[in-house]
Amino acid sequence: MELTQTAYKDLILGPEEGMAYGGTFVPEVLLPSLHEITDAFEEIKNDECFVAEFHHALCTFSGRPTAFTPLPRLSAMLGGAQVFLKNEGLNHTGAHKITHCIGQILLAKKLGKRRIIAETGAGQHGYATAAVCARMGLDCTVYMGRKDYERQRPNVYWMELLGAKVAAVDDGDQTLNDAVIAAFKDWVAHPESYYLLGSAVGPRPYPAMNTFFQKVVGEEIRRQCQAATGRLPDYLVACVGGGSNALGMFFDFLDDEGVTLVGVEAGGRGSAPGEHAAKMRQGKLGVFEGYHSYFLQDDDGNIAPTHSVSAGLDYCGISPILAFLADEGRVRFETASDEAALTAVKTLARTEGIIPALESAHAFAHAFELAAQLPKDCIVVVNASGRGEKDLFITMRHFQEESLRDYARHLLAF
Ligand SMILES: Cc1ncc(COP(=O)(O)O)c(C=O)c1O
Repeated sequence: MELTQTAYKDLILGPEEGMAYGGTFVPEVLLPSLHEITDAFEEIKNDECFVAEFHHALCTFSGRPTAFTPLPRLSAMLGGAQVFLKNEGLNHTGAHKITHCIGQILLAKKLGKRRIIAETGAGQHGYATAAVCARMGLDCTVYMGRKDYERQRPNVYWMELLGAKVAAVDDGDQTLNDAVIAAFKDWVAHPESYYLLGSAVGPRPYPAMNTFFQKVVGEEIRRQCQAATGRLPDYLVACVGGGSNALGMFFDFLDDEGVTLVGVEAGGRGSAPGEHAAKMRQGKLGVFEGYHSYFLQDDDGNIAPTHSVSAGLDYCGISPILAFLADEGRVRFETASDEAALTAVKTLARTEGIIPALESAHAFAHAFELAAQLPKDCIVVVNASGRGEKDLFITMRHFQEESLRDYARHLLAF
């Protein structure tokens, strides 16, 4: 069957497994829980009351719709396309992650769940989960690789202040992948809990369910871009860790052939194994953490270590939906290095007064190169998936190392 792009949408959110990737590769003990979540997801998708409750919570708790911001000084500096950003960093807790947390926690409540398990990399998904759990009176445990726990300390503090238990994971290379494995282990031991996966990855129905909740981002961009410019964008650019902010931005535009969709992965410090997290560039097909997709692997098929300056992009796998759309040629993939992302943070801060998260800065780094080569009547929209305050100690170390040392000395003397 030749797929029309409308069929893409049906395939992605549909009840049947129709894509080349995905699936449900989990221990038997989790199958009843996954079936329960799948049935509930099928029900709520078409339940107007549930969807209205979800949108009400997005408006009243998270602050949607988020701003669609023209970047005139930056665009003039680049000398090419007009660049806009979708400011998901203005969401409560600072990133797009709260959107799927609200959706999934409403669903968990509907299922009568009392305890939520989550994993987190940059801490944004954990922070958002902790906030929504506190608001809804649910118990919350968040797993975080030790390396991420140390480099994203501000978010650990916020999660704990919100009443969540944050468990640092000492296995593996102590990043997101290890946190996901620890969360799955907890779920196997406590299948009555609800596992709130933080991206469009994992076994069915998580990739589709995450996309269903996040697609509000693209729906808003469509309206806001039409209102601001009278037409649709030419390019949408998003960073890709697991794929939630990218799919949230892209989904509504899958039918619009004139809109080019660009995912930007972490190019890290170079293309050698262990130095990056570019799954679509260098990953191989495999099955891991419950789903079939592209993963960074060594020659024996074991999961390879990853690296990125941003804790949210150094995940070893990619959403089966994005993998499928990439193979189909609908989404194009690029990389941006650590250095380019750090430079992009400063450029956006100095030209437009906006400090993006290091994850989002990868999308900006590529968008700057792209926009500079495009004619002035082109429109490029970048997903600012999060704000940069959480990266204080990482960017400060890079931009003002002496000042950070001084601050650390003061803290120690405190
Ligand atoms: C601000 C921000 N953007 C992007 C990501 C990457 O995740 P995803 O690809 O699921 O959007 C993260 C993950 O932690 C994040 O915190």
